[in-house]
Amino acid sequence: MVKVIVNGARGRMGSEAVNAVNNDPELQLAGQCDFGDDLAALIKETGAQVVVDLTAASAGFTNTQIILNAGACPVVGTSGFQIEQVNELQALAAEKQLGGLIAPNFSLGAVLMMKFAAQAAKYLPDVEVIEAHSPQKEESPSGTGIRTAELIAQARTKAAVKCSDKELIEGARGAELHGVKLHSVRLPGVVAQQTVFFGGLSETLKIEHNSQHRESFMPGICLACKEVVKRSELVYGLEHLMD
Ligand SMILES: NC(=O)c1ccc[n+]([C@@H]2O[C@H](COP(=O)([O-])OP(=O)(O)OC[C@H]3O[C@@H](n4cnc5c(N)ncnc54)[C@H](O)[C@@H]3O)[C@@H](O)[C@H]2O)c1
Repeated sequence: MVKVIVNGARGRMGSEAVNAVNNDPELQLAGQCDFGDDLAALIKETGAQVVVDLTAASAGFTNTQIILNAGACPVVGTSGFQIEQVNELQALAAEKQLGGLIAPNFSLGAVLMMKFAAQAAKYLPDVEVIEAHSPQKEESPSGTGIRTAELIAQARTKAAVKCSDKELIEGARGAELHGVKLHSVRLPGVVAQQTVFFGGLSETLKIEHNSQHRESFMPGICLACKEVVKRSELVYGLEHLMD
């Protein structure tokens, strides 16, 4: 049994994660933590091996440092990480010889969507990403959108066609990362959606993923809790733990 603490346990994702851990016969819920609690003390007190962090973009980096410094493996779904922060946390995990995960998306379908998008980008370099989330989302674009753009940029072997950058209204063409346009939609009723929209010679291809409920992230969280304890490095992206 892997002993797990959920941090952000009173939140929408955290409360789902508490249920998921409780319902998984290979996991044991060692504790619940939220804003104002002493996470380091709880890790020491319970002997938890893993902490699932589902808190706030402003807190994710510090929480992951606290988890590693207390000797537990972080499974982090909190969004808002800069690549430099991921690198710093990977170095800390290596120093402590601890496994861990920072996952822009825990949904297995979303991970496959990113993988398929990277495959398609090798042949179809013209692509834009449209992601949609609820209005409560703290930051834009989403971590999944950023990760998708990174994977597309790594996989692309040809440059995209040059488009006019004249905007009649500022922002009309969206944001850009590594030459990939990213558009963020924020609407009530949406949990998490993303379309990766490719264009070719007289053809288009859309790869679409839709998380209809937060429970869609739970199989990925449970899988990660069981995998990180077997490793001694922190990985970025659930795909590194799936195969
Ligand atoms: N990786 C994924 O698959 C995935 C999916 C959905 C959401 N998210 C991310 O997960 C995070 C949580 O999302 P949510 O919808 O549950 O948010 P939420 O606002 O409903 O819940 C966040 C919880 O974290 C607590 N919290 C805030 N700062 C804290 C801190 N410093 N220490 C401990 N607890 C703290 C809050 O009190 C709250 O209970 C967000 O960053 C969101 O973008 C990730």
